[in-house]
Amino acid sequence: MKIKVSQEVKNTPTEVLVIGQFEGEKTSLELANTYAIEKDGFEGKFGQTYLLHTFGKIPADKILIIGLGKKEEFDANKIREAVAKSIKKLKQIKAKNACIDFDINCDYGKSAALGAMIGDYAFDKYKSEKAHRLEEITFAKFSEKEINEGIIFGDAMKFTRDLANEPAQYATPSKLAEIAENIEGITTKIYDKDAIERMGMGAYLAVAQGSIQAPKFIHMKYTGKNPKRKIAIIGKGICFDSGGLDIKPASSMLTMKDDMSGAACILGVMQALNKLQPDAEIHGIIAACENMPSGSSYKPGDILTAKNGKTIEVDNTDAEGRLTLADALCFACELGVDEVIDVATLTGACVVALGTIASGIMGNNEDMISRLISTAKDSGETFWQLPMFSEYKDSLKSEVADMKNTGSRFGGASTAGVFLQEFVKDVKWSHIDIAGTAYLEKPQKELIAGATGAGVRTLLNYLK
Ligand code: BES
Ligand code: MN
Ligand code: ZN
Repeated sequence: MKIKVSQEVKNTPTEVLVIGQFEGEKTSLELANTYAIEKDGFEGKFGQTYLLHTFGKIPADKILIIGLGKKEEFDANKIREAVAKSIKKLKQIKAKNACIDFDINCDYGKSAALGAMIGDYAFDKYKSEKAHRLEEITFAKFSEKEINEGIIFGDAMKFTRDLANEPAQYATPSKLAEIAENIEGITTKIYDKDAIERMGMGAYLAVAQGSIQAPKFIHMKYTGKNPKRKIAIIGKGICFDSGGLDIKPASSMLTMKDDMSGAACILGVMQALNKLQPDAEIHGIIAACENMPSGSSYKPGDILTAKNGKTIEVDNTDAEGRLTLADALCFACELGVDEVIDVATLTGACVVALGTIASGIMGNNEDMISRLISTAKDSGETFWQLPMFSEYKDSLKSEVADMKNTGSRFGGASTAGVFLQEFVKDVKWSHIDIAGTAYLEKPQKELIAGATGAGVRTLLNYLK
């Protein structure tokens, strides 16, 4: 779908002219007011739609009215959702092109373009019958600059969602490495199994050892023109999480191709940096592998040594994400960065606590956490802080090693958080648990079922 801007669209010939209507107010088109409001009592409640044939009365064949809700509640998040809704409706009526003019004076171009791209998204690569796509949409009034930034964000989300939607047979650790190596404007170094061993990443390697897919440790680096801050972003990259020898029940394993959603998020963000050119040095890190049961799998009771020398008794092979992240965090902390952010589909407990509505956030710096929470809010995502009371550590006590990899079943998201903290040294760090938000079983807001691109827009806005 091509996205354009033009100052005047109301008199441009097009298939569908999309306009907005605030609740209880009139639209900017007399024709729409006569039919939708006066005849049919269209209210303009948020997300409502009304389709009208123009029979040649204006240059557009049809008018689509989108309810924008209460005028005083309208903001950048609302316009993104409203545009996404419009695009879905346009796809439903099999339109090929449309002009969108909500008659709003604020420059919401970025949100509008992002909304259009989210609404347009479908994962139909493996379907013989492809979803209907719009060819071109034209926005009125917004600036080229804002629209272009929205497109960059939209492309990043699509990149991440496509990758996370791919089955594990495609999105292997080697594939992620190959993708990382082909991203423009960054340098990428891939560490293979021997190099990972030489770095002393015993926790990560243990998880990887049960699979025939070789582990790939991916280190990407973007350097801006005048780097003012240095940040490392880490994504959990378990390309398939069967649980390992502590194997998952079938129903829980069904969506575990998405256990690399954190990694997909980081790749989506990294490929956007060259286009956004932030004044920062940004490291993207992924410890990619599979968690599989086999004769060579790591076992409950095994004692692993992480990169920082700390020893871990394996209590449950299904708590593998924190083991791979432990070594990735050690690596990140040695880069001399100011801040480290990890994004991970880490715990079922986080899904139980927050559902699919919010990602859990924890960390060692309240200011960084609150900046991320507010950036998320402005980006249309929800981050909710979970506690990291030191008491959570008690359940990780081991008789034979420095710690176990799992503790009590209760408070599992926080237990994972305090486990990760053991591998963080001398940096501000935030951990974002996207287990509930990365993948949807059914549509939610502007998102269709499947991979959501969780974390992408927030990280991009945070790094920008
Ligand atoms: N990848 C899972 C977490 C997960 C669960 C992500 C549901 C998305 C949806 C993680 O590796 C895992 O298996 N965690 C275990 C930890 C437990 C063994 C302490 C869990 O949450 O059950
Ligand atoms: Mn697991
Ligand atoms: Zn996992």
